[in-house]
Amino acid sequence: MIIVLFGKPGAGKGTQAPLLAAALGVPTLSTGDELRAAIRAGTALGLEAKGYMDRGDLVPDAVIMGIIKQALSEPRAAGGVLLDGVVRTIPQAEGLAEVCAQLGRTVDAVLCFEIDDDEIVRRLGSRTVCERCQTPYTGREAGTPCDKGDGVLVRRKDDEPAAVRNRLEVYERQTAPVLNWYREHGTKVAKIDAVGSVQDVTARALGALAA
Ligand code: AP5
Repeated sequence: MIIVLFGKPGAGKGTQAPLLAAALGVPTLSTGDELRAAIRAGTALGLEAKGYMDRGDLVPDAVIMGIIKQALSEPRAAGGVLLDGVVRTIPQAEGLAEVCAQLGRTVDAVLCFEIDDDEIVRRLGSRTVCERCQTPYTGREAGTPCDKGDGVLVRRKDDEPAAVRNRLEVYERQTAPVLNWYREHGTKVAKIDAVGSVQDVTARALGALAA
């Protein structure tokens, strides 16, 4: 089972990914989390990605394809994987399809979390994330401890207003067209109302997958 979690920045992909993964018994891959881990570790990948991410631009497709190939080839992904924000351009969708074909697999469904821009600005304006495990929180101050371990909450640089505006423009220009690419290639695309309690959104997503 390979499921693509899709949606605008702040739609709730990162919140839903671990909940859906636990319900489905598969691991997750978030390219955003992988890139932030590389930045923290000071690797060449992190150094290359940082400027793009801080501005809210997309990291080049070749970099992302390297992460996807490696992750899908790992034994832990053999039973399936939830791809959180992993496919953001048509070349990435094409590249993922190629990798899947080489492994004898396919993308089974795309879940697109839908939310309007005002709600996104509200959510990202008050988001903090754990510097270690990346768990997102709303309305919790930077500097306070994470509930899930000994990490500390921080604000993401790309949650500043100028970067959020750019991320929304980049989504419309480069990422939104990927949904039609999947429809044209026969992959099920399910739109999920992402407004409501976290539990309700999880239930809607699981319902769409069951259907
Ligand atoms: P990434 O980290 O993936 O960011 P994103 O897609 O912009 O998504 P976010 O993490 O901002 O939001 P989310 O949808 O996960 O929402 P969350 O659950 O946190 O990528 C960052 C950057 O990396 C990109 O801009 C790009 O530069 C680069 N990158 C990554 N992948 C790439 C790729 N494939 N190609 C090229 N570049 C790539 O929720 C948001 C807030 O809302 C939280 O505070 C949360 O607590 C709250 N919330 C969640 N659900 C609810 C709810 N139901 N009700 C109320 N509040 C809620």
